[in-house]
Amino acid sequence: MSGSIVILISGSGSNLQAIIDAVDAGEITGHISAVISNRPEAFGLERAKNVGIHTEVIDHTGYKSREIFDLNLIRKIDEFEPDLVILAGFMRILTPDFVRRYSGKLINIHPSLLPKYQGLHTHKRAIEAGDSEHGASVHFVTEELDGGPVFMQASVPVLSGDTPEALAQRVLIQEHKIFPIAVKWFMQGRVQLQNGTPHLDGVSLEGNIPRLTL
Ligand code: GAR
Repeated sequence: MSGSIVILISGSGSNLQAIIDAVDAGEITGHISAVISNRPEAFGLERAKNVGIHTEVIDHTGYKSREIFDLNLIRKIDEFEPDLVILAGFMRILTPDFVRRYSGKLINIHPSLLPKYQGLHTHKRAIEAGDSEHGASVHFVTEELDGGPVFMQASVPVLSGDTPEALAQRVLIQEHKIFPIAVKWFMQGRVQLQNGTPHLDGVSLEGNIPRLTL
């Protein structure tokens, strides 16, 4: 199957790279039709260009409102007729119209064990709270920021003396493992959002989210 995947980024694109590598290795069925960044300087654009993937920049600073930016983003994304839209470090709050348009085929990775620590500075917050474990979650995107139904997680222990940077680095390594698997499952049709609940092979994942532990 050669489903169309569009990936949105804002920065380094290390998760994008993990997905590119999995597509190249034949692990993910489908092709990356476009990588779109809201920041012209995002290093992820270079990663995409290096392997011949089409890139686009839609710089949010050039738009008067979030609504107009999102409308332009939708127009661009729809040119690629995506089966899946991936937020891979895309650091923008999306309008309800955007989220609704791609309902059930819009996924994000967030660096925390959701529902814990939605928003920013997740690693610092986990350390300050004295948590013994931290991690990352892949979820369907809904109108609630970082709040949509999770269907895969990875956890790492929080070590004594951990800094937010050291912890972020260890979590990121796990992100690169689970995100390609999540994309693979979606493109195989194994993971689906049904009535707001993620299902794997037709079985509800509510209360039973697959978790990679370290
Ligand atoms: C990743 O840690 C991702 O989980 C996080 O941004 C980083 C992007 O890194 N995303 C969020 O915080 C979304 N709320 P990358 O550009 O190297 O993939």
